[in-house]
Amino acid sequence: MSLEISPPKKLYETFHADCFLWLEQREANSIHAVVTDPPYGLKEYTSIEKEKLRQKRGGVWRIPPSFDGCMRSPLPRFTVLTKEDKSALQRFFSQWATKIFRVLVPGGHIFLAATPLLSHLIYQALEEAGFEKRSEIIRLVQTLRGGDRPKNAHEEFPDVSVMPRSCWEPWGLFRKPCEGRVQDNLRKWKTGGLRRISEGQPFCDVIKSAPTRSIERGIAPHPSLKPQAFMRQVVRAALPLGEGIVLDPFMGGGSTVAAACAVGYQSIGIESDQEYYQMATQAIPRLAELSLDESNNLVSPLFSQREASQQPRLF
Ligand SMILES: C[S@@+](CC[C@H](N)C(=O)[O-])C[C@H]1O[C@@H](n2cnc3c(N)ncnc32)[C@H](O)[C@@H]1O
Repeated sequence: MSLEISPPKKLYETFHADCFLWLEQREANSIHAVVTDPPYGLKEYTSIEKEKLRQKRGGVWRIPPSFDGCMRSPLPRFTVLTKEDKSALQRFFSQWATKIFRVLVPGGHIFLAATPLLSHLIYQALEEAGFEKRSEIIRLVQTLRGGDRPKNAHEEFPDVSVMPRSCWEPWGLFRKPCEGRVQDNLRKWKTGGLRRISEGQPFCDVIKSAPTRSIERGIAPHPSLKPQAFMRQVVRAALPLGEGIVLDPFMGGGSTVAAACAVGYQSIGIESDQEYYQMATQAIPRLAELSLDESNNLVSPLFSQREASQQPRLF
């Protein structure tokens, strides 16, 4: 009797590609969850704006000042988007959502990092493509967005902020409709629900977080790198039975794929920028092996802060 042994499945694959083209080639119903942080201004990841960022010339990137001894990470300025930019953003997400809909299995979830200024536009595009909005995950994180006094009139209006200081980041949670009941869908496609934190604790829609630690930014100096402490919680929840493939079509420095490796899930990452793609391929195993304690704090970095600060930086 011959026993067929199938080769072990790769835990992750990465592609240097435009995700729109990649999605067109991908088999239908072959991805079980999408966890991603897309480019929002569309402008901020164009060659011109990336060059300005790398040259520290600003452009759409707001280069924040250094204070209390720390250099803050640059942030893209979404308030500079025109009406035309916003229409282009909606078109981009409509096309993207249609392509994602085809490759995702019924009941598959999308976790989509957003910004309070633009989330309504993106969410509408996803609903129009056929996805159901299931919730919004609130990542509690103190950022440097908002809270400033009027520019060049600080002294005249000392008690005024132009916008609130942002203390949270929305993550839209969407699902491709299930085939039948959730239990039927779970049996057939392994999707439809979210993985519980434990038997007694469901996944919750508010997650305390912190800005990405310097040790992680040292490993992957991408301007939008998300922290492992947060990403592992979200990625883990995305596969209710822990089976299937998680896709990040806008991989950046690789935080989603690294989080999937850390929780033992199969994943795929796609990145169109050559430099970020190279960065992610080197960073993923190193981010994945960082240890977190029960409260999801980094505990035992396997290399020192000094080593992290010696990693090449874009800015
Ligand atoms: C906001 S960043 C993602 C950061 C990522 N979450 C991380 O933690 O590093 C978005 C990324 O999408 C990439 N990108 C933009 N358009 C793309 C496309 N059409 N296909 C694939 N990647 C794209 C950009 O180069 C950028 O690195």
